[in-house]
Amino acid sequence: MTHSTSPQAAYQTIQSLPEARWWLPAAAMPGSAPTALKTSVLKACVLGVDLVLWRTQQGWQAALDQCPHRGAALSAGCVIDQTLQCPYHGWRFDSQGVCTHIAALPAFTPPASHGLSTVGAQVFGGMIWVQLCADASALAPRAFYPAHTAALQATGVLHALTQTYEVQTSAPRAVENFLDVSHFGTVHAGWLGDAAHMAVPPYTLETTAQRARALGVRTWQPQSQATLKGGAWVDYVYEVAHPYCAQLSKLPSRAGGLEESIAMWVCPVSPAACRVWFSLCMADIGQTAADVLAFQHTIFMQDKPVLESQRPALLPLDSSAEKHSAADRMSAAYRAMLKAWRMTYGVC
Ligand code: FES
Ligand code: FE
Repeated sequence: MTHSTSPQAAYQTIQSLPEARWWLPAAAMPGSAPTALKTSVLKACVLGVDLVLWRTQQGWQAALDQCPHRGAALSAGCVIDQTLQCPYHGWRFDSQGVCTHIAALPAFTPPASHGLSTVGAQVFGGMIWVQLCADASALAPRAFYPAHTAALQATGVLHALTQTYEVQTSAPRAVENFLDVSHFGTVHAGWLGDAAHMAVPPYTLETTAQRARALGVRTWQPQSQATLKGGAWVDYVYEVAHPYCAQLSKLPSRAGGLEESIAMWVCPVSPAACRVWFSLCMADIGQTAADVLAFQHTIFMQDKPVLESQRPALLPLDSSAEKHSAADRMSAAYRAMLKAWRMTYGVC
C-alpha cells in the first residue's frame, strides 16, 4: 500500500484488521505542540488510510480524505460556517459528514449518499485519536495508561508534547525501542547511560492479557534530566497496554529526585513508516517546557538513526527470527502481546 492508494481503496484493505478497531494517535492538535499550525483542518494517515481531520464547534471530526464528488483531498479545504468545504467545487459537509450544500446548485438538497465516510475521532492528551472501524468495546485513549492520564490532569506537573517525528520504521520497532532497557550505555552514552554501567540488573516482569509491566528497572544515568547534573541511579517502571503506545515512569532513588511519566504515542502510517510523539509529564522543578522538549529531542535523535537501520523494518514476531537475552524480557513480552492481540500491521 502506498500514499497514492485512494483512501477508499486503502480503507477496504484494512477493514478486517484488528488494528482498525483500536483508538490510534493520528495527529497533534494545533497549538498543543511547538510546530503545530493554528488551523482547523489537518491531514493524517493511519494504517495507510489518508484522513481529513477538521474542527467545528462540535469538536474534532475525521473522515476519509476523499471528496465523494470528484475525489479531491478534503484536507486542502477549509472550515466555513461550521462545515468542511471541499477545495475543488465547494461542496460543504457538516460535523456528521452530511453534505449540506452544493455551491453549483444552491437550491438542491443533497441526498444522504453524498456524505463523507466518517471515522471515530476523539481528543486526548493534546492529540487527535481515530478509530477507523467502529467498536464500542474498544478502550478509550485515556484508559490505557491511568498513571499518565492522572499526571496530565494533575496540578504542579509540567506537561509538554513533542513535535511530530517522522520515522522510517514500523510502529512496533519504535515502541520496542522505547521499552528497551539495554541500549542506554551505547546509544545514549553520556546521557541516559555509560559504558561502565551496561549491565541490566534483573527486573520484575508482570504480565496480563492486557498489560505488561517491567518493575524495578535500575540504571545509572550521567544526565537523567534536562537540568540535573552529576548523574543518578534511576528506577524505571515500563508499561505497555496498546500495540503502538507505551509509558514509562521514572523515579530517581536519591532524596529530592524527580518523578516523571513519559508516554510514547506512535501512529502507524504505513507498515514500515510511523509518526511518533512523546507526552512528557515532569515535576515542575527548575526546568521549563523548552528544557524538557530539547532534552527529549536530543535523546530521540540518538535513537532515530538506529531505529531506521534495523532490518527488517517490520518487527519479527517469530521468536526464532532474532536472538534474545534475558535482558530483553520486556521486549519479548511486548512481542507476545502483539501476537495475542493478532496484530498484523508493522510486524512480520
Ligand atoms: Fe469536492 Fe467537487 S471534488 S466538491
Ligand atoms: Fe533510546
